[in-house]
Amino acid sequence: MDILNFVLNLCVPPASMIMLAFSWPALCFLNACEWLYNSIYGEDMDNKVVIITGASSGIGEQIAYEYAMRGANLMLVARKEHRLRGIAENARRMGARHVMIMAADVVKEDDCRRFINETISFYGRLDHLVNTVSLGHTFYFEEVTDTSVFPVLLDINFWGNVYPTLVALPYLHQSNGRVIINASVESWLPLPRMSLYAAAKAALLNFYETLRFELKDEVGVTIATHGWIGSEMTSGKFMLEEGAEMQWKEEREVHVTGGPVEEFARLIVSGACRGDAYVKYPSWYDVFLLYRVFAPRVLNWAFRLLISPQGTRRSSSYVGTGGRPLGVEGRPMLEGTSPINNPSLTFSGQLSHPMQQKLD
Ligand SMILES: NC(=O)c1ccc[n+]([C@@H]2O[C@H](COP(=O)([O-])OP(=O)(O)OC[C@H]3O[C@@H](n4cnc5c(N)ncnc54)[C@H](OP(=O)(O)O)[C@@H]3O)[C@@H](O)[C@H]2O)c1
Repeated sequence: MDILNFVLNLCVPPASMIMLAFSWPALCFLNACEWLYNSIYGEDMDNKVVIITGASSGIGEQIAYEYAMRGANLMLVARKEHRLRGIAENARRMGARHVMIMAADVVKEDDCRRFINETISFYGRLDHLVNTVSLGHTFYFEEVTDTSVFPVLLDINFWGNVYPTLVALPYLHQSNGRVIINASVESWLPLPRMSLYAAAKAALLNFYETLRFELKDEVGVTIATHGWIGSEMTSGKFMLEEGAEMQWKEEREVHVTGGPVEEFARLIVSGACRGDAYVKYPSWYDVFLLYRVFAPRVLNWAFRLLISPQGTRRSSSYVGTGGRPLGVEGRPMLEGTSPINNPSLTFSGQLSHPMQQKLD
């Protein structure tokens, strides 16, 4: 058996690469034809029904506007209802046929049943489910002092996608609908200080790839993988309430460059309507996959060189530390425009402060 594997190890990779090189032009041609056909005869969202989770900010909000401009009926879901109200108003102005909102926690299965049942009883159908909920973090794994943050990060970033999908699937089968997921380039290209986020995104990717097989062509799956997109998440901002926001100082010092959220949202929605299996932004990240398989050490060296710890404090924000200070050296630097000075932030972006109840 070892000899067999030895021979296969020697033969299969080069033979596959040669086959791929020869078939590449034909594959590209077929993909281009399919793309053109689907662009012309893609799904018309006029009067269709779309649920968007995580619609209260960033990419989710912009996706809501994209569907609105296509004349869809919307159900917008997030925990901050007051933010959803303003976004619903904008969506109506932009052309949405009808907009419903619901405050819900996607980590709770009952909440997912509530907003999906409400959608079905009002609109009578469901065509697209767009999952955009997430929670990022910026701590080194070894800095964690309170492991209670671990399940929370996994809950939001993984189960928060799975529960709505499970509840929505019977209705998506009826409409030959589609699930759209926001993974991240981190699902296969991990970066430091985002270990649990990257792990959850990798789990998400594998879960939906498996689901794609199981669903065959009855329900489509579009997986969006993107790098840095300018949004509240990447600017390290917690929105506590309208006009009261707080940023992690460290995050603001990091210059985030990336395509605009609007552009990415447009790409996702047009990709979903075309029936694309993947939406990548920017797509040149794919080349790192080759390095990961064939030259992982080069990738490792390059990252160590590029992402040097110099200039970045080893400490991070309170995110993921359960609100506990990290020690004098590791004290997170919080600066905010909020009237609340230096409250104890927890990983969930909420305050363990008397003000918390008021903000909730
Ligand atoms: N921005 C980037 O550069 C980037 C890069 C790669 C991947 N992504 C992915 O793209 C997606 C959107 O990112 P974003 O930057 O737009 O994030 P964001 O602005 O932080 O938005 C996250 C959304 O999730 C909602 N949410 C969080 N926990 C929730 C819960 N338990 N129940 C219901 N809603 C919840 C938040 O609303 P409430 O707080 O009101 O609940 C918010 O609307 C995410 O999946 C993210 O991982 C983003």
